[in-house]
Amino acid sequence: MKNLTVIDNPLIKRDITYLRDEETKEYQFRLALKRIAYILASEVSKNFNVTEVEVKTPLEITVGHKITKDIILVPILRAGLSLVEAFIEMIPYAKVGHIGLQRDEKTFQPVEYYYKAPKNLGESTVIILDPMLATGGSASVAAEFLKGRGAREIIMANLIAAPEGVSRMEQDHPDVKIYTAQLDRALNENAYIVPGLGDAGDRTFGTL
Ligand code: PRP
Ligand code: URA
Repeated sequence: MKNLTVIDNPLIKRDITYLRDEETKEYQFRLALKRIAYILASEVSKNFNVTEVEVKTPLEITVGHKITKDIILVPILRAGLSLVEAFIEMIPYAKVGHIGLQRDEKTFQPVEYYYKAPKNLGESTVIILDPMLATGGSASVAAEFLKGRGAREIIMANLIAAPEGVSRMEQDHPDVKIYTAQLDRALNENAYIVPGLGDAGDRTFGTL
């Protein structure tokens, strides 16, 4: 799994435990998820190129840095929305596009229902946000969609990935780097990640 970075961090390990726990209430779930998202944003940002700029302190002129390319966050609706706030706090000038994909409950295939994104995808670093990478169908369709509209540099950020989803992405989009907080064992017969955390959208938004 050469495109995959699993972030090794004790704070993530603790918070993944909260997320997995079926007793965790929505507000605790959202808080734990947000704490992980800050760390994910920090790891993903290691890919950003910087350009030197001049900055004048109260004492002298020195070298500063700015991020070279625009950053576009693309949450996959609906569960991907849960990662946006923390990423925006870490990257305040980021633009946000949205892709609406819903997995068909019988075929597990993603069905598209919404798309709106900034036009300069081709000159930007595009970060797809989705807490769950299960079969990889949604992520693959999202990457395909964004490439079709010009995106050239795409990074994917997840909370929990299944090996099946990572393999699918590596096959369909070998150029896309994947960052995840947790690599789980497998998918079950309903294409849910196990041990996982259940349905990320339902647990975030209280629609169980
Ligand atoms: C979930 C999740 C991913 C997708 C992952 O969304 O947020 O988008 O499933 O599964 P895959 O890798 O097999 O495609 P879901 O379709 O349940 O929609 P929701 O975000 O509206 O709950
Ligand atoms: N979507 C989820 O929310 N959870 C899974 O385990 C798989 C897909």
